[in-house]
Amino acid sequence: MEIFNTQDTLREYLAKPRAKDLKIALVPTMGALHEGHISLISAAKKHADIVVCSIFVNPTQFNDPKDLEKYPKPIENDIQLLTKNGCDILFLPSVEEMYPDTNEQWHLDLGRLDQIWEGAQRPGHFQGVTQIVYKLFTLVQPDVACFGQKDFQQVMVIQRMIEIKQLNVELIICPIIRSNEGLALSSRNVRLSLNGKKKALVLYRTLQATKAAFKENIPIAEIQHLAEKMIDEEGEVDLEYFAISETRTLERADTIEHNKDYVAHVVAWIEGVRLIDNMLLND
Ligand code: PAF
Repeated sequence: MEIFNTQDTLREYLAKPRAKDLKIALVPTMGALHEGHISLISAAKKHADIVVCSIFVNPTQFNDPKDLEKYPKPIENDIQLLTKNGCDILFLPSVEEMYPDTNEQWHLDLGRLDQIWEGAQRPGHFQGVTQIVYKLFTLVQPDVACFGQKDFQQVMVIQRMIEIKQLNVELIICPIIRSNEGLALSSRNVRLSLNGKKKALVLYRTLQATKAAFKENIPIAEIQHLAEKMIDEEGEVDLEYFAISETRTLERADTIEHNKDYVAHVVAWIEGVRLIDNMLLND
């Protein structure tokens, strides 16, 4: 695997495969890689000839400086994992490399997508995400880019950015990878005790129950009540939000329309760790 730390060296290296019309895939990450990320690399390999993974803990998407400070950086392990799983190129830039101008301004009109759910809980987060992903897209000019369904709103935001900026990149949404018991894999899970991990399984159970109820046409308000009750009864799980939304806009659904798709999404705190999960309901 080739490793590049600067935009110029990566750009120069990619010129050759691009001239040969080889397909390039990008997998943007913030490192601390786990099986979920590896599934993105595998998907990328299926869709392209050359796989570029970026590892960059992007400061502009953190609204809590402590969260940024605490973000794990097991880079040696990440490099080993990427090499073992056939990634071709790792882009590993410094903050100065990606943000040479410390006063750089960025704003993309994402409408309500920037204001609801994660947008409301983490103001500015999606501006930071789109700022860095746009830089990476411009640099790598990938044919395809792979993102995990786990951060569902992020995927919808990136899709919107692609439309607004009219970018020529295909977005591949990769399914959530779960532990055998059902816990959605996340870099944050290492901060949970064994008991915390057990408690966290209630999120998966709740999403499964939600999907079953949705399939039985149970009214949304009733499903919402059942889901909140399930999470509450688990104990030591602090629910931030649970909702059933239409997939594209992520607006909360009051009733189900048959020509639309829906997602159940949940955020809860366990042992001071913020966990996020979702499930597509129409599949
Ligand atoms: O999902 C992530 O890890 C990050 O938000 C991303 C897409 C790499 C941008 O920094």
